[in-house]
Amino acid sequence: MYSQKVIDTFKNPKNVGAIENPDAVGTVGNSNCGDIMKIYLKIDGDVITDVKFETFGCAAAVATSSVATEMVKGKTLDEALKIKNSDVIAALDGLPAQKIHCSVLAEEAIKAAIDDYRSRNN
Ligand code: FES
Repeated sequence: MYSQKVIDTFKNPKNVGAIENPDAVGTVGNSNCGDIMKIYLKIDGDVITDVKFETFGCAAAVATSSVATEMVKGKTLDEALKIKNSDVIAALDGLPAQKIHCSVLAEEAIKAAIDDYRSRNN
C-alpha cells in the first residue's frame, strides 16, 4: 500500500506543467511500464532556479517527481545530480516494492535534462 505521504503528494503535486523557453529538457521512458517523464529546467549560472514536470505515469511517478523537483530547486547542477531515488523514497515514507522503479523516472529525467544543458552549453 502507498504511504499517506505518497497519497497526499499524488493528490496535490508540486511543479506540474511545462516551462516556456526552458534552458534544458529531459525526457525518459520506463521500460517496465512504458510510462514517460519530461522535466523542464530553468538554470541561472550553475543553479536550478525553476523546474517543472509532465508525466504519463502512475501515482508513484507523480509523487516521486513532485518530491524530486522540490529537492533540486535552488540546487547547483552537481548537487542535483547527487539526489538519488532512495532520498526521494525516504522523503515519502517508502514505496511498495513493485513501485520502486517508478521513482527512478524522475531521477533519470533530471539527469537527462542536466546532460541536455551541458551539451548545449559546452
Ligand atoms: Fe509506470 Fe509507475 S507504473 S511509472
